Amino acid sequence: MTKRLKFGCVLWFIFTFVALKYQVLSFRCDRRPYGSMTQPSAPDGRFKLEVVGTEDSYIPGQLYTVQIIATDDKSFFTGFVISAEGDTKVDPKNPRRMIALYPGDLRPQDTLTAKFSDRCLYAVEQAIASTKSSVVVYWQAPESGNGCVILRAMVAENEEVWFQDGSPLTQRLCEDMSQPDDVTPILNFDCQTCDEAKYELTFTGIWSRNTHPRLYPENDWLPRFSDLVGASHDTSYVLWMPDSLVTDGFKDFAEYANSSKLEAEIRENIGSGVRTMIKGKGHSFPKMGKPTYAFFRADKTNHLFTVAVALDPSPDWFLGVTRYELCQDNTWLAERELRLYPWDAGTDSGVSYESANIVTYPQDAVSRVAMSSYDRNSPFYETDMKDLHPFGKLNIKLIRTYHKECVEETTTEEASNETSTTTESQTETTTVEAETGLSEPDEPARYQNTDLASGEGETPLVTDPDSSEYCPLTEWLEWNPCDGICENGKMSGFRWRERYHLVDGVAVEKYDPNVNKNKHAPKKEVPKFCKEHYTDYEIEDCNVDCSDKPKQKQVTAGRRIMDPVAPGHSWTSKKRRVPY
Ligand SMILES: *[C@@H]1O[C@H](CO)[C@@H](O)[C@H](O)[C@H]1NC(C)=O
Ligand SMILES: *[C@@H]1O[C@H](CO)[C@@H](O)[C@H](O)[C@H]1NC(C)=O
Repeated sequence: MTKRLKFGCVLWFIFTFVALKYQVLSFRCDRRPYGSMTQPSAPDGRFKLEVVGTEDSYIPGQLYTVQIIATDDKSFFTGFVISAEGDTKVDPKNPRRMIALYPGDLRPQDTLTAKFSDRCLYAVEQAIASTKSSVVVYWQAPESGNGCVILRAMVAENEEVWFQDGSPLTQRLCEDMSQPDDVTPILNFDCQTCDEAKYELTFTGIWSRNTHPRLYPENDWLPRFSDLVGASHDTSYVLWMPDSLVTDGFKDFAEYANSSKLEAEIRENIGSGVRTMIKGKGHSFPKMGKPTYAFFRADKTNHLFTVAVALDPSPDWFLGVTRYELCQDNTWLAERELRLYPWDAGTDSGVSYESANIVTYPQDAVSRVAMSSYDRNSPFYETDMKDLHPFGKLNIKLIRTYHKECVEETTTEEASNETSTTTESQTETTTVEAETGLSEPDEPARYQNTDLASGEGETPLVTDPDSSEYCPLTEWLEWNPCDGICENGKMSGFRWRERYHLVDGVAVEKYDPNVNKNKHAPKKEVPKFCKEHYTDYEIEDCNVDCSDKPKQKQVTAGRRIMDPVAPGHSWTSKKRRVPY
């Protein structure tokens, strides 16, 4: 009796252990088609799970398109489930436990074809059981450090005939360690976000004798970062790009850390490809590690941004991000931090920071600074990119959005109607803004009102009567809300505001929607003297009372545009027949 009990106990332990282990190891839930009584058929290769643009690796945080496609022209399916499974690792707090790593976020691309799964975590399934030969969903790869992820598909031709797993319906992707993360996510050529966005960029340099000792300039006060220069722009505009030649302005910038010509080149494109020119102050010794801030606006057309910071001294090396997609899943990217590694502008062939100038003739295309170099004179002699310390980091943060109605592209004769459309939408705008929770709750109402009154969604500009006759400026716009970390009801951080230079009574460098319509209007330039002597933005420390509710959450919540459960289907409705 005692023996039997003991034996039973042992068995129970074994079962429990196996069951627990199994549960932890797999999030594989029941993926059989609703109502099916059959076992899965062996995959026959007619259906395939694909992650567009990659086979076996992912760039952390990047948004991918995942699809199930029929590999022949005649196969169709009605039901599907695509699920993501994270790696497991030993729990550092309890070595006998395994914990599952985050497998990223699978989500529908279109609520008509897919919805979050009723039954499985990290899974999407058909919204309706229509007949189809392909389906497309999004997968946002997890952040760095989450190892490998397995994406699995179940494909149902009908209730009786269905397939799951096996090589054509399973994809294992591991974090791409070879890629630094300042590479561009896949472009969204059809950004569907009508709201406009204001972003803050923070560049923080990490280039010092400590971090990059090899061949670091002997003279400590020599190294510096150039100004941060760039633009928010549309998909056609290129400021710099790997495998492309740089402009003269960019050459000066990369070689001499002098941005004046480059800025002129960018300014020329404001209104035709460029929305905002980005400019932040570069720091030199001993403030090399001090953050540089810049702000810009993005919209449905201008949803990419490019920036660069030159390293000085260096042959033609710079840090930067190019054509970075902010409208990644048709919502504005909330926040991202990127580590920056040096690029080579292709105009000077020097191998180290302080090499003498050697003109590269003919000019070369932009590429990574040569790593694993066999040249002993290179700071990157036998250095693997993986082991290289980043030279800087760039934080991209959505500050706020401005509600905008989606307006069809207007041709010239319809233009007269556009104004009235905007006016009509104004009352509606207030409520929508309040509902989405995207507006800053502690902003004075006054700000919001003026915000709506101007077509562009910003405070109207007023000339500052006290500004100099030669360098007229607008009055400073409102201070933006204090930004910092809220601790015990107090926040100490910084806040910023901006104003604009006026040329012939027109605010220059401010986006003007009419510029697009009137291409022949003369381009206005702010005199160099004015730009050098009158700053157009300022930033200061601030200390305010705050409530501890996290602000960032609101933005993040706003990003999830689709409900996990489609209307009309409750979360718990498990049984649904798949008609065929
Ligand atoms: C930057 O380059 C311009 C010419 O493009 C020149 O006039 C200016 O003096 C340079 N600035 C510095 C600080 O060298
Ligand atoms: C303006 O809109 C109205 C309808 O809202 C339309 O009938 C009219 O033709 C439009 N005018 C122009 C110039 O497009």
